[in-house]
Amino acid sequence: MPGFVDKPEPAQVPGLTHLHTGKVRDLYRNEAGDLVMVASDRTSAYDWVLPSLIPDKGRVLTRLSLWWFDQLADLAPNHVVSTEVPAGAPADWAGRTMVCRSLRMVPVEAVARGYLTGSGLAEYERSRTVCGVALPEGLVDGSQLPAPIFTPATKAAVGEHDENVSYEEVARQVGAETAALLRQNTLAVYIRARDIAAERGLILADTKFEFGYDDGAAAQDGSAPLVLADEVLTPDSSRFWPADGWEPGHAQPSYDKQFIRDWLTSDASGWDRHGQLPPPELPQDIVEQSRARYLEAYERLTGLPWS
Ligand SMILES: Nc1ncnc2c1ncn2[C@@H]1O[C@H](COP(=O)(O)OP(=O)(O)O)[C@@H](O)[C@H]1O
Ligand SMILES: [Mg+2]
Repeated sequence: MPGFVDKPEPAQVPGLTHLHTGKVRDLYRNEAGDLVMVASDRTSAYDWVLPSLIPDKGRVLTRLSLWWFDQLADLAPNHVVSTEVPAGAPADWAGRTMVCRSLRMVPVEAVARGYLTGSGLAEYERSRTVCGVALPEGLVDGSQLPAPIFTPATKAAVGEHDENVSYEEVARQVGAETAALLRQNTLAVYIRARDIAAERGLILADTKFEFGYDDGAAAQDGSAPLVLADEVLTPDSSRFWPADGWEPGHAQPSYDKQFIRDWLTSDASGWDRHGQLPPPELPQDIVEQSRARYLEAYERLTGLPWS
């Protein structure tokens, strides 16, 4: 069964309770009841968390998410409390730690797509729909959609696939009111981020958000605000394409992990993605190129130098 090639041990930090080791992040609870999210340098592909680390990746994901949360602050409240490293934590948590409000997560991957590719393209080719949304004839890999669409997926455990579902299915699972809020917020945030990326010469083809209810901030009537959580608008959660090279009809060069996937499925890796064996270590040049892509995405989006 896919999963971790090497599952890391959580750190022992006084005052922190380890909750969960995700594909990329380690989650702890502090004594105030907040969540301490530590982004690692791990990377995953084909439902495996790979044995190789991409140096600085955790810090890029964290710094980029924080930058985006700032850009979106007027549009969507977020879960960030601080970036303080808890006393007694490993020194290398600096720059990759986010203390967040612990939310009641909505178990839906809130995906927005402005362009057609990936699992959206696969469904379109079968049925001319994505997550049940009807689309016009004649679209190809990389085509811009007439308007951005909400294409939710159910969240899978480590080692399993997320599954695209219809809006109606989301409404059935989480209630009509939450489904409507998810769609509205997802599209609004996508549109804002798409426009910011476009100013930097990047196409935001699609992106995934996670939302949760902040019960600690509930109003008198008991209604809790829906808050933007997790990481946002990073190369792990989004497809960014350089606008100047965009050409529908084939796969677009991207800042995501596509070329790690390409290497894993090439003859060079010697790995069979459909076999029983875990994937091998990445060669040093693939690690280096991957690191460079993350740093480049950060610098292009924010306009800031990495170091
Ligand atoms: N504010 C929050 N409160 C509770 N859970 C959260 C919050 N923000 C993110 N999460 C959860 O933390 C985990 C982040 O770790 P990650 O490595 O991305 O996990 P995954 O393997 O599920 O993608 C996810 O399961 C996500 O749903
Ligand atoms: Mg995640």
